[in-house]
Amino acid sequence: MADLRIDLAGIKSPNPFWLASAPPTNTGYQVQRAFEAGWGGAVWKTLGDPIINTSSRFAAVHFNGQRVAGFNNIELITDRPLEVNLKEIYETKKRFPDHAVIASLMVEPKREKWHEIVKRVEAVGVDGLELNFGCPHGMAERGMGAASGQQPDLVQAQTTWVKEVATTPVIVKLTPNITDITVVARHAAKGGADAISLINTINSLAGVDIHSWNTIPHVGGQGAHGGYCGPAVKPIALSMVAECARDRGVGIPISGIGGISTWQDVVEFMLMGATGIQVCTAVMHHGFRIVEEMIDGLNNYLDDKGLASVTELTGKSVPKYSNWGDLDLNYKVVARINEDNCINCNKCHIACEDASHQCIDMLTNADGKAVLQVREEDCVGCNLCSIVCPADGAIDMIALDSGAAPMTWNQRQQVISTLNGSYSEAEVV
Ligand SMILES: Cc1cc2nc3c(=O)[nH]c(=O)nc-3n(C[C@H](O)[C@H](O)[C@H](O)COP(=O)(O)O)c2cc1C
Ligand code: SF4
Ligand code: SF4
Repeated sequence: MADLRIDLAGIKSPNPFWLASAPPTNTGYQVQRAFEAGWGGAVWKTLGDPIINTSSRFAAVHFNGQRVAGFNNIELITDRPLEVNLKEIYETKKRFPDHAVIASLMVEPKREKWHEIVKRVEAVGVDGLELNFGCPHGMAERGMGAASGQQPDLVQAQTTWVKEVATTPVIVKLTPNITDITVVARHAAKGGADAISLINTINSLAGVDIHSWNTIPHVGGQGAHGGYCGPAVKPIALSMVAECARDRGVGIPISGIGGISTWQDVVEFMLMGATGIQVCTAVMHHGFRIVEEMIDGLNNYLDDKGLASVTELTGKSVPKYSNWGDLDLNYKVVARINEDNCINCNKCHIACEDASHQCIDMLTNADGKAVLQVREEDCVGCNLCSIVCPADGAIDMIALDSGAAPMTWNQRQQVISTLNGSYSEAEVV
C-alpha cells in the first residue's frame, strides 16, 4: 500500500483529503467525526464577523436525473462566536494531533484586524491559515471575500500583513470570479503566501421558479447572486489549477478545490499540480463516509501504477498542458466505428450530419445489414460522434500518419516570418 501522507507547504496530513471551509467544518463535532471517518485535514468554516445569515440559502441544479450536478449558496461565514470556534479547534487538534486543522479567516482589509485574528487563532494550535479572498456574496458587499480577491494589490497587501505575524503556513484561497487567475495567484506569492487554494465558488443564479417567478433560492421573494460549486465546476477549477501550476510567477504549492467527488477527480487535480485537495459539495451530498471509497480507490490506483507515494502524482500532467499555439496542427485522428459493439442507434450519424462534417455513410453490408462507416478522408477528428455514442467501444478515435512533419501554429508563424514573405501563408503546411 502506498504512502498517502502529504506535506503542503509545511502542513502535514495523513492523506491528501481535506474538507473545504464550508458547512461540514462548522463545528468541532463535525470535524472530529470527519477525522474518524478518514479525512486527513479540515479547513474550518471561515472565522470572522458579523454572525449573520440568510434563510433560505442553498439551491441545486439537477440535470437529467442526476441530483446536485451543481450547487449554489448565498450563505455567509461562520454563524458561531469566535471564542466558541477557537475552543473547539483547540479540542479537535488535541484529539487529532496528526491531522491538519487549518483556520479559514476573513476580516476587513485592515492590517491591525488581520494581526489580531491571526494571533488569536494561532494561539489555539492550528496547523495553518487559509485567507478567504473568494466568497462572492454578502461579505463582498462589505469589501471582504471576493471583493478583496478581485484586487491583486489588495491580495498581496493583506497576505503581507498576515505574514508579518503568522508563525504557521499561510494559504491564500482564490476567487474564480476574475479574468486571469494567475495574476492574483502571483500577487499572493509576492505577498509571501506559502500556498494557494482554488477555487472558491463561481458567481451564479441557480434558477427561477417559473410559477412564482421567484429566484432559486429566494429570501422572502427576493434573490441575489450566489456561489456555484459541485461537479459542474470541476472543469473550470481544474483548468485554473493547471494555469497556476504551470505559471513560473506563481511557483508555490496548490490545494485543489472544485467539484471533487471521486478518487479519480483527486488523481486528476494532483496530476495537474495540486499537492492536496479539498471537498465540500460531495460531502454535503453524500456525507463524510465518501472518503472511504476515495482512499481505497487512490490506494489501488497507486499500487497499480507502482507508485510508492501519492506525492509522486503531483504535477505529472502539467508539462502536457500548454497553449493552443504549441499544439501540433499536423496531428491527425479519425473516427472508426466498430460494428461488433454498435447498437445502430444512429446518434453518431445525426451528430456528424447536423453538427460536424457529414462523413458518416449509411451502408448495407454483405449480410444485408445496415452499417455506418466513416469516410476517413473527410473526417476532421472532432470527437463529436464518439462523445454522443452511447455504446462503449463502438467508436474509437484512431491516430493516423498525416504524412506531414509536426508543425505548431507558433512554429508556422516563425517559419513565415523567417522566410520574410518569399512564401505565402498557404504554402507553409
Ligand atoms: C454552503 C457553502 C458554504 C461555503 N462557505 C465557505 C466559507 O465559509 N469559506 C470558504 O472559504 N469557502 C466556502 N465555501 C466554498 C467551498 O469551500 C469550496 O471552495 C467550493 O464549494 C468548491 O468546492 P466543491 O465543488 O467541492 O463544493 C462554501 C461552499 C458552500 C457550498
Ligand atoms: S470525428 Fe467528427 S467529423 Fe469525424 S466522423 Fe466523428 S463527428 Fe464526423
Ligand atoms: S452512436 Fe455508436 S452505437 Fe449509435 S450508431 Fe453510432 S456507433 Fe453505433
